[in-house]
Amino acid sequence: MLWILSLFPKITSSYGKEVDNLFWFIFFIALFFFLLVQILMIYFVIKYRNRGEEEVSKVEGNTFLEIVWTIIPTIILIVIFFYGVYVFDNFQRRPPANSMEIKVIGHQWWWEFQYPNGYTTRDTLIIPVNKPIKLIMTSQDVIHSFFVRHFRIKEDLVPGRYTWTWFKAVEPGMYDIQCAEYCGSRHSKMIGYIKAIDTKEFESWLASVSKEADLSSLSPVERGKRISQLKGCNSCHSVDGSPGVGPTWKGLYNHEMVVIEGGKEKKVIADENYLRESIVNPNAKIVKGYQGIMPSYQGQLSEDDILAIIEYIKSLK
Ligand code: CUA
Repeated sequence: MLWILSLFPKITSSYGKEVDNLFWFIFFIALFFFLLVQILMIYFVIKYRNRGEEEVSKVEGNTFLEIVWTIIPTIILIVIFFYGVYVFDNFQRRPPANSMEIKVIGHQWWWEFQYPNGYTTRDTLIIPVNKPIKLIMTSQDVIHSFFVRHFRIKEDLVPGRYTWTWFKAVEPGMYDIQCAEYCGSRHSKMIGYIKAIDTKEFESWLASVSKEADLSSLSPVERGKRISQLKGCNSCHSVDGSPGVGPTWKGLYNHEMVVIEGGKEKKVIADENYLRESIVNPNAKIVKGYQGIMPSYQGQLSEDDILAIIEYIKSLK
């Protein structure tokens, strides 16, 4: 039975307790009703067993009982719903403003982590303790799921989309990352580690590694700039606001645009998902007043490159 405890290791994140409380709240309600139904069922089976007599039960229904067992579960489910929304909205979806952003890309079958300075690591995510970390996640191939038991967090990585989650480690240590979505033959081997270390230690580590690698020594913005020059993006999209064949990138990020989708006019915000879609599937939502002549870059740019280009566009305010 002790293996059950390994499902609930010591909480080492800031809001893990809230998640556990919600879990146990629902669990014990379910347990209570499971036992109630089972015990009553066994009791009735014995009490009303066939004794070889002729008499049959004449109970046709009981309106009072039916109203009671409709209203009570309804109230309980409503309570569970609002409690769930409360935890989700007040903790899980509230990354503090000073969060450090780290990009996560899922691959068959490994984890890629990209730091704000462009440095990437494989399978091991090194983070400072007591600092909120916001993970912006996507997948290079199929759906994966980022699951850290000690932090009580789990969020899917979906190809073609950015999802996010956040946590704050409150204790230094090594914590397992497991992939919690079946993703192929080596799914069970898709294990990573979060190494939470002291802030000073983290900063000196990050400074030492940023000098190392060649392209990854560039910040994502610099890298995005270089890639967009290499791919010729800027022959159609200016970066200084001047008109071109395509919309300018200057001030594009988070700007509200009128686009044509399936022949209909529609308003969209040029956020990460819109920008990504416009790179891999440019004709899905064409900005009004432009022609759909841009080729798709699906397969020509890695998720790494696309993130870098988006970071570059974000920097052009
Ligand atoms: Cu990745 Cu399962």
